[in-house]
Amino acid sequence: MNESSERFHTPVLVEPVLQFLLAAKGQILVDATLGDGGHTAALLTKGGAELRVIGIDADGEALARAQARLRKEGERFQAVQGNFRALLSLLGSLGVTKVDGILADLGVSSRQIDRPERGFSYLADGPLDMRMNPNLPHTAAGLLATLEQEELKKIFREYGEEKLAGRIARAIVQHRTQRALLSTNDLRQIVQSVVKGPHQIKSLARIFQALRIAVNDELGALSEFLQSALAALRPGGRLVVISYHSLEDRLVKQFFKKEEKGCTCPPEFPACVCGKPSQLTILTKKPLVPGPEEIAANSRARSARLRAAKKLGA
Ligand SMILES: C[S@@+](CC[C@H](N)C(=O)[O-])C[C@H]1O[C@@H](n2cnc3c(N)ncnc32)[C@H](O)[C@@H]1O
Repeated sequence: MNESSERFHTPVLVEPVLQFLLAAKGQILVDATLGDGGHTAALLTKGGAELRVIGIDADGEALARAQARLRKEGERFQAVQGNFRALLSLLGSLGVTKVDGILADLGVSSRQIDRPERGFSYLADGPLDMRMNPNLPHTAAGLLATLEQEELKKIFREYGEEKLAGRIARAIVQHRTQRALLSTNDLRQIVQSVVKGPHQIKSLARIFQALRIAVNDELGALSEFLQSALAALRPGGRLVVISYHSLEDRLVKQFFKKEEKGCTCPPEFPACVCGKPSQLTILTKKPLVPGPEEIAANSRARSARLRAAKKLGA
């Protein structure tokens, strides 16, 4: 398949991403979740000739494909493989210390979900892998084989908000005493043996997503990324985060609020003694969400929430 006939991941909320990130001139931007390079391609098309984008992805396959797609941009685009939690050292490896804007479009791309061999989806049979980066230590099968029942329940309850988390965890532990769970079909069958009726599909989606979040330590990575992104931004620089899960969105919202407030003194103190300055101004009082047209054209956009903030300072 050549590049023009290939189907790329459809980037979401492109207009606000462009508006927030192209606000300054002659800039270096970071696309911390390059994926198929959809947002980066739009930024490079709409940005000035001086604009340079550094693309990061944990998934080497995604990175190689985006590099091929964006080769025509020459020196305006650079790619580096790694987890965005190590943002500062990844930028350092390119000799970059400060940037003007950073985008994170969290989660997995349609391409990753659509490839059964990556194990992200219950819709097709494949190995229970779910690692964004194949060098990560634990696959989903590994977690299902080794975690205690209570730990599995916690993952399904906290990351998946699944009501039947306990019963699903118990069924997994019972199953694995007879036979290891190795394929997405193995997990699908167990979930379907516990959850009956109209909720089955939602539970499958929740359990698969919860396991993916655990395999890739997605919330831990996001927390470290937010802190590093703040350190990497120049004053006036913008941070834009698109999340698809309520826990991710909450982390972003709380981080923005904390850094906008600055002072961490208890409310009963008459005056600030900590001296911690405000570091961000929130640009989206409420998260931006896709309109009905975008959702009709791209159903994967339906849970997207975009939050943006500007770094303060001289
Ligand atoms: C939703 S897709 C991004 C799609 C992209 N905006 C586009 O327009 O094609 C998310 C991408 O981020 C990558 N990713 C997720 N978490 C990551 C992390 N912690 N570090 C680096 N890359 C990550 C995934 O491998 C995936 O390719």
